[in-house]
Amino acid sequence: MAICELHGVTKTYGTGATRVDAIQVIDLIIEAGEFTVLSGPSGSGKTTLLNQVGCLDAPSEGELLLDGRSTRGLTSRQLSHLRGEKIGFIFQSFNLIPVLTATENVELALQLAGRSDGAHEAALAMLPQVGLGGLEHRRPNELSGGQQQRVAIARALVKKPLLVIADEPTANLDSANGEQVLSLMQELNESLGITFLFSTHDPRVLAHARRVIYLEDGRVVRDEVRQPPATRRRQSGTRPSGEVA
Ligand SMILES: Nc1ncnc2c1ncn2[C@@H]1O[C@H](COP(=O)(O)OP(=O)(O)OP(=O)(O)O)[C@@H](O)[C@H]1O
Ligand SMILES: [Mg+2]
Repeated sequence: MAICELHGVTKTYGTGATRVDAIQVIDLIIEAGEFTVLSGPSGSGKTTLLNQVGCLDAPSEGELLLDGRSTRGLTSRQLSHLRGEKIGFIFQSFNLIPVLTATENVELALQLAGRSDGAHEAALAMLPQVGLGGLEHRRPNELSGGQQQRVAIARALVKKPLLVIADEPTANLDSANGEQVLSLMQELNESLGITFLFSTHDPRVLAHARRVIYLEDGRVVRDEVRQPPATRRRQSGTRPSGEVA
């Protein structure tokens, strides 16, 4: 099942002498259960493409379909709603709120998506699943980089998103923490079929990928499928309480 489709998507920044064609016509389909990595040199368009898929930015031309629905013509408010409902984000610099505990950071994602009912309980149930049982009340400055990124993973997953987008998620982690965080995401992909789309420069991330899409100058130059998408084991809403996705 295609969860995201890009048809003839381009993205241009600036005009005239300052014009940059960050994405030059991309056609791409992301299926449910993929663990896909965008690779390519700095400036090749990885972040720009993730921003398109994550509805953080609209294409200059072409069309994006999310969960079978076109995003063309949606207002920024409608796009923000779609993002809140369908997409989980994991950032290079974790982007946690420093004054909130791990639980509160995860809870906030549900509150911002307008899903406050049961948010605290869902956040508390989520943290042990990313290996943070017992650390629920710590603030980000009381956690290691790897632990902070686990909070960010919990925050992305607690909404049960259609797709999790991660822009260079291991770039600020040492190699042991980076490997653990990747193994966790791979486990979530394999056991629950959660769909991940990453960008990275990190060969460790590439080693975990089921599919690698290579970009150069805003174009897909190679698309390598190594393993088929993981199967989603259970449909959303039918999971035993405390289980993710
Ligand atoms: N907001 C912007 N305004 C103007 N140009 C931009 C903007 N964002 C990105 N670009 C340009 O678009 C191109 C693609 O940038 P992008 O950030 O997508 O690359 P990247 O592959 O993510 O690079 P990196 O590996 O360094 O993160 C680059 O030439 C960049 O300078
Ligand atoms: Mg980038």
